[in-house]
Amino acid sequence: MMYGTLQGALLVYRSRSEKNLEDSTLRFLSSGKADKELIYYDILGTQAHCIMLHEIGILTVSEVEQILSALVKLEANPALINLSTFEDVHESLEAFVIDQTKAEIGGKVHTARSRNDQVVLDMRMKIRDDLNNTSSYLLDLINSLLRKASENVDTVILFYTHSQQAQIGTFSHLLLSYVETLSRDLDRLNEIYDRINTCPLGGGAIGGSSIGINRNRTAALLGFIGLVTNSIDATSSRDTMCEYVSSLGIIMITLSRISADLILWSTSEFGYIDISDENSSTSSAMPQKKNPDPLEIIRGKSGSLLGNLNSVFSIVKSLPTGYSRDLQEIKPALWEASNSVQNSLQILEMVIDSLYVHRERMEQMAVKSYAISIDIAEQLVVKNRMPFRSAHKIVGALVEKAVSSGNMPLSGLKKEQIKEVLLRLNSDLKVEDIMQLIANLTPKVSVSLRLSEGSPNPKCQQLMIDELKRKALAYDKSLSGRKRCISESLDALRREVKNYLPDFDLRKSNCHA
Ligand code: ARG
Repeated sequence: MMYGTLQGALLVYRSRSEKNLEDSTLRFLSSGKADKELIYYDILGTQAHCIMLHEIGILTVSEVEQILSALVKLEANPALINLSTFEDVHESLEAFVIDQTKAEIGGKVHTARSRNDQVVLDMRMKIRDDLNNTSSYLLDLINSLLRKASENVDTVILFYTHSQQAQIGTFSHLLLSYVETLSRDLDRLNEIYDRINTCPLGGGAIGGSSIGINRNRTAALLGFIGLVTNSIDATSSRDTMCEYVSSLGIIMITLSRISADLILWSTSEFGYIDISDENSSTSSAMPQKKNPDPLEIIRGKSGSLLGNLNSVFSIVKSLPTGYSRDLQEIKPALWEASNSVQNSLQILEMVIDSLYVHRERMEQMAVKSYAISIDIAEQLVVKNRMPFRSAHKIVGALVEKAVSSGNMPLSGLKKEQIKEVLLRLNSDLKVEDIMQLIANLTPKVSVSLRLSEGSPNPKCQQLMIDELKRKALAYDKSLSGRKRCISESLDALRREVKNYLPDFDLRKSNCHA
């Protein structure tokens, strides 16, 4: 058979059928486009499988050498296969090996294997890498947030609830809240990693094989920590992929929230931050504009990602046990989700790194605000031992007075006005005490008085930063360990290949970015 020129030859898998697929049907059902991402993994999986087939006596040494030789040729130049003229990467790769060797040899690569275990193997290997890369980018973002937080432990800012000014806090505290959420996102990825990192190869079509394959050997050659043992489970289940895309969805929700905050704070109305020119867009019409488009794209992509998540779940839902071709459709959604998250994390990290913080503006807004009210009420509770509810009533009435006197700050209230409020509420508090309390409670004092654990008090900030830095370092270490395990196993696989092909160049393959 001439590879890629199929006229006169049947597609590799057409044994019962006497005719090839209609061109349009082939185009319709081919997963060639999505499978570009899988070539590298399909080659590795096939190498491991064939080495194992040789070890159990199915392939002779000469056969395995010829097959491996074809595979390394493809690894050096993946453009040698034409995915679009085949049903998928698996058929395309097998046709290539058959073309390079001959049918008597290449025709043996699919012994004790099915596309059903092959595709899940490739997907798990790709997701394993994607998950690790996503974790690295998450860590980069966490580290850049920690750097910004360190510079802003005593930068005062307003916190908002219901989009209304709520309490006074510190900017670092806000940034650290993102770090906490992102650390949980990392936890989630960590947690599902071991479940992704198990090997389905050898599950066959659904019911295993009567050939005495060594599943543990292929799993070890490919760097997996164990097997997806049950052959039905190995080929039919996609739950690990569902949890992977769910975790990505949750990450994107976090990124979307951070973006929404930054977009708002960068408006002239807030004026809290400046997003660097390098990370802003302009307007074709309005010369004054500097738009936070990259952040808007992140927010938008979080919507698309929820679409990807929905696609994966909806495709998997209601399928009976056993491989169905529907499952092919989850691949583009998964790849798009992986790409979106990784790109968004990288962009957001740059935005954070280059963010300019207008500290004076933040403080000025806090000074003008009534967000100090809860601090005043709490001081009344502490100093005067009064019920919080009574303090709440008094401060609320003072705010009302200040608002109706032209939105003046509480510190602008006159003695008479305070007296009037206290009288109306039958309070025996002294006007002077209230005036002094208000005068002393600047935003900076307000945050320094916050005593509860996890509060924006600048003293707690440094402790939190140190703790989160330690956590990030520990993550970094375990992530490097995970990546090292994979690369050591794949290096060992390459050395195995070299045992058969002494001329094989051990340097990294061309088909893995
Ligand atoms: N292209 C298929 C996929 O991506 C591979 C498995 C096809 N298996 C089958 N028996 N039709 O899911």
